[in-house]
Amino acid sequence: MAPSPEVSDAGPGPVAPAEAVESDAGEVEAVGPEDRAAGDGAGAEKVDCRKRKCLALTFDDGPGPYTRDLLRVLRKAEVRVTFFVVGPRARTREGVLALAHADGHQIGVHTENHLELTKLSDSRIHREIDRTLRTIRTQTGERPVLLRPPYGATNPRVAAQARRLKVAQILWDVDPVDWRDRDTAVVTRRVIAGFHRGAIILMHDIHPTTVAAVPRVLKAAEAKGYTLVTVSELLGTTKPGKVYTDARP
Ligand code: NI
Repeated sequence: MAPSPEVSDAGPGPVAPAEAVESDAGEVEAVGPEDRAAGDGAGAEKVDCRKRKCLALTFDDGPGPYTRDLLRVLRKAEVRVTFFVVGPRARTREGVLALAHADGHQIGVHTENHLELTKLSDSRIHREIDRTLRTIRTQTGERPVLLRPPYGATNPRVAAQARRLKVAQILWDVDPVDWRDRDTAVVTRRVIAGFHRGAIILMHDIHPTTVAAVPRVLKAAEAKGYTLVTVSELLGTTKPGKVYTDARP
């Protein structure tokens, strides 16, 4: 994955507000300082990734039919991960995000319609990010600070909208291609082979074959001395708009 282009501080031109799409009830327009940063979930003990071998598992495209099963596995193992969710799926599966949040997982934006943001207008990019962001805030009480652009497709225009919406862009540096190879043994092997300090590992909790790989992945991580953390625990404070692929020192 190419390193992040440093984003210029020159702001984008004025962006038309989203059309009056049906808005989520009770959402607040302004983002105030009262918004808590992500990654400080209740009961989460602080992990110092300067001292420990940390890596982050991330799960995209949900929540889906297997997400609750995954949450049970993670809860039993007392492991926290990061979910990058699609707005309509979160709204359909009411309660899953709140549950994940209560368990200390981090929730980030994977947009409304899972489109290549680089192909959209500035105002459409804004809308794709913003509505999912609001859904996450409504369902968890916490404003997300992370965006995973679908397909990892980004450019300076996407970065500008991400910066406006105060979300950092989180790509990955380990990809087991679990969406293509729906084989639990293959996915398990590739994820474990990709373990390294500072890794951000891409998976998809909408595939039962991937969810089934997680127990062995967790065991291997523990055996190899890794501490599994959320993306914000791994990266610390992230800069809105900036692209991160890992936390290699
Ligand atoms: Ni995706």
